[in-house]
Amino acid sequence: MIEHGIGVPQQKVIILDFGSQYTQLIARRIREQKVYAEIVPFYKSAKEIAAENPAAIVLSGGPSSIYERNAPQLQEEIFALNVPILGICYGLCALAKHFGGKIESAARREYGRAIIEIKKKSALFKSLKKKETVWMSHGDKVIVPPRNFDIIASSENAEIAAIENAHRKIYGVQFHPEVYHTVNGQQIIKNFLFEICKLTPSWTMESFIESSIDAIRKEVGNGTVLLGLSGGVDSSVTAMLLQRAIGDRLYCVFVNNGLLRKNEPEKVIERFKRHTKLNLIYVDASKRFLSLLKGVDDPEKKRRIIGREFINVFLKEARKLGRFDFLAQGTLYPDVIESVSTKGPSDTIKSHHNRVPEVLKLIKSGKVIEPLKELFKDEVRELGLALGMSEELVYRHPFPGPGLAVRIVGEVTPHRIKILQEADDILVEEIKFAGLYRSLWQVFAVFLPVRSVGVMGDKRTYENVIAIRAVTSVDAMTADWAYLPEELLRRISNRIINEVKGINRVVLDISSKPPSTIEWE
Ligand code: XMP
Repeated sequence: MIEHGIGVPQQKVIILDFGSQYTQLIARRIREQKVYAEIVPFYKSAKEIAAENPAAIVLSGGPSSIYERNAPQLQEEIFALNVPILGICYGLCALAKHFGGKIESAARREYGRAIIEIKKKSALFKSLKKKETVWMSHGDKVIVPPRNFDIIASSENAEIAAIENAHRKIYGVQFHPEVYHTVNGQQIIKNFLFEICKLTPSWTMESFIESSIDAIRKEVGNGTVLLGLSGGVDSSVTAMLLQRAIGDRLYCVFVNNGLLRKNEPEKVIERFKRHTKLNLIYVDASKRFLSLLKGVDDPEKKRRIIGREFINVFLKEARKLGRFDFLAQGTLYPDVIESVSTKGPSDTIKSHHNRVPEVLKLIKSGKVIEPLKELFKDEVRELGLALGMSEELVYRHPFPGPGLAVRIVGEVTPHRIKILQEADDILVEEIKFAGLYRSLWQVFAVFLPVRSVGVMGDKRTYENVIAIRAVTSVDAMTADWAYLPEELLRRISNRIINEVKGINRVVLDISSKPPSTIEWE
């Protein structure tokens, strides 16, 4: 098994995670500068970190107070690595404590925008103005800087908003440069990477493809690989990358569970069989899934049935094909980060899919290949484009493994699936036509088994309801309901009611996550 992941370059920044909700953002901001960054928990031993040969270390923020019992502590040995260090928020306090500064726990957290004033010329603040808007979110603050550290910026609430020991290349900021609201945060990150660490921006998708292909070839040798292809972005990109690396020794199994969007099986077959010459094995198991779901209306039961049956069908097909050396998965970085921060319910759901016991067993024996394991979703999309995939495919919205079953409240029946497919198709078509598809994280229809009275022509109707769900999000951990123009909503509603038999009412879901979830079940 490839320990360091496929496509990881030599030069990397290690982010020690102290549990901040922004830790992933730090990694993304660094990667946006074409420098590879990886998140590891703060307790990872200095020896293991040294083995990764990092070019720089960033200490993330975190929710703890530095003097609190069991507060996460820095390991002294990391300083022996002699690489530049940037501490952010809690990371700053950890640095200050280590070098003998003084920290005060504020009675109230400072949260929100603040203005810092730059007090001393510093490489960290190159090209910045004297006063800058930043984002603060902290309880502790440093009140006495450690010896040999200079104060380089102050704010109204925190005299010590940033410090440096330029000689040892150790820097600390109280605010969050990785957050969008820190107006020139990206410049600060650039300064750290290029002015202070002297790194080169060489981590591009082309370089990722090249090194991934090398790594996959080395790992697979003459072996064969089996991949479950769903037609979604992640598994499609995985397929294209693997195909480039090992050609027709890749076999993809596409299972139609009968819970897919309108015409989806035909589209997937067309896309991959005709256009890419992929070894695609199509399994129509829809009847089997639908019969197992008969009479089941509990959301968790539905999920369990579908998850279990998927594995059954998949493994059965695999056995039919004969011996396989590897199983490939389109797992992404957010699913594997050993993050210290608490994970949301969607992570549990996802890990459920990529980490079922059968797969875990294979992972343990080193038989699983996950070439996207180091990438964030937006990077996977970029990779897809670099591999020559169409924008239409690469920018598809996520679709849940249990499919339309979690978008039909109550029992799943063929009739309800058909209604939902039609309504969803109209909705997505109109959203695309209005040019809004790319700006939304997801948009889909939900079937509600509620009947209400209507009037069509001169006749009374008594039919079901469709709910429109449209959300914006960056990672599905939180989401906002999206504002759709009135005229567009009117068209969608009219079309669904007029064109979809069985629906006489359309409603709009205006719930954010949390406390709601994106999917209804
Ligand atoms: P929720 O409904 O938890 O969904 O807010 C968060 C994101 O995850 C997707 N989702 C799933 N994806 N298997 C998947 O691969 C699943 O079982 C599953 N359930 C939800 C959902 O569409 C949203 O993007």
